[in-house]
Amino acid sequence: MMPSTLADELKNRRAENVKILCQLLSIPSVSADPQCADSLHQAAATLSELFQIAGTGWSCEVMPTAGYPIVWARYRAPGNRRRAIVYGHYDVQPADPLDLWTTPPFKPTLRDGKIYARGATDDKGQMLTHILSALAWMKTKGQLPIDLDYIIEGEEEVGSENLERFLAEHRDELKADVAVISDTSQYAPGWPAITTGLRGIFACEVRVHGPRKDLHSGVFGGAIPNPIRELTRLLSLLHNEHNEVQVPGFYTDVVPLTDADRAGFAELPFDQAAFLAETGAIGLRGEAGFTPLEQRWARPTLEFNGIYGGYTGPGPKTIVPASATAKITCRLVANQNPDVLMKSLEEFLRSHLHPSCRLEFTADHGCPAFLMDRQSPFLQAASKAIEAGFGKAPVFIREGGSIPVVATFKRLLEIDTLLLGWGQNTDNLHSPDEHFLIEDFHRGTLASAILWEELANV
Ligand code: BES
Ligand code: MN
Ligand code: MN
Repeated sequence: MMPSTLADELKNRRAENVKILCQLLSIPSVSADPQCADSLHQAAATLSELFQIAGTGWSCEVMPTAGYPIVWARYRAPGNRRRAIVYGHYDVQPADPLDLWTTPPFKPTLRDGKIYARGATDDKGQMLTHILSALAWMKTKGQLPIDLDYIIEGEEEVGSENLERFLAEHRDELKADVAVISDTSQYAPGWPAITTGLRGIFACEVRVHGPRKDLHSGVFGGAIPNPIRELTRLLSLLHNEHNEVQVPGFYTDVVPLTDADRAGFAELPFDQAAFLAETGAIGLRGEAGFTPLEQRWARPTLEFNGIYGGYTGPGPKTIVPASATAKITCRLVANQNPDVLMKSLEEFLRSHLHPSCRLEFTADHGCPAFLMDRQSPFLQAASKAIEAGFGKAPVFIREGGSIPVVATFKRLLEIDTLLLGWGQNTDNLHSPDEHFLIEDFHRGTLASAILWEELANV
């Protein structure tokens, strides 16, 4: 158990810690938007200033990359036997549509026990808990029981494409026992969780070209191919009536769920009506033969994220458009290879394309899925810390989202990652009115403070 001085320190620092969070949330660090470039650098600088006050044993560098910088803070103390890597991201998703926000996304606002701002839960608020917990150790004890490497990047929301190179270059300096990330969710309010699996992903763009430029649909339509028609026809071939993806080989490498996996999922309470109410959809539509939790956590998907082409302004316009485009992502599960499947998708689309049209396929980011070693001794340490911080032992879950670095840690550094989500699925991550429960912020900080000691004792 933690010395009471540390718990007291965290209690006393609550207001101050919220203030630090608000400062970080005021910076519009949207990695997808080139206009925000200065803000990304500002967010990195703000974090590095926070580490400057930590004191003896600490160093912090803002490491340039081909994209946005990585904040790398290190703590070393003689006699510590364990070392953990703490990962987080200071970049956020775009805030639009702006008119759906109750208060502006980069003016953090406290309302009914929640702090509202883009990045509140994903990931500035969650990531900050692990810095504030270490600062509290330094303040009260002058030292930490474990060595730490913080790696906080600014490109997670756009695929972490410069991070792998950094990790490879510093591989020898980054030897650690385990990694820690808070960038996921609890199972439900009152149900803290440890996430033992994440899905992987790949993203691509498909454009069908028809005529060289938009044409009069009365003069040319009927004889010249319409690219919107051809694109939507192709897209409609990608799923069958059982909601199964039709790309050849899509399911070949999927590791089937074991009876124990399925039983574990089935033990978790799941209220279908509440789930639908939460989303606003009037019915489910998932792969046949699987429960909603299985569909979201352990089955691959192909989703259309956006589609455009032709005239979309007010009133009619009689044209045959020059092109039509769809943005597609696939979520992957353990053992599936994003590069191989992206190629299969491209080949499938090309093989079905009508010869009157041209298809342009643009590959974007990709990362494999992650499945934790359930025998890892660090899981028990994390469980104890969460129980002490949240007053309840965590359940073990998986999640359907992706965090690219987790698979890289496993492959390059050969370590597992403890995914300790302090957020809630209802925090509106990537949505308007994103927020973080102030209580989850403080409980997460307390759990983190206890975690350092529990990990040191493994
Ligand atoms: N923090 C999320 C991932 C997440 C959220 C996992 C909730 C589990 C539960 C992360 O910031 C994110 O949004 N990742 C992207 C992937 C990336 C490659 C664009 C995602 O999952 O879409
Ligand atoms: Mn995140
Ligand atoms: Mn995100």
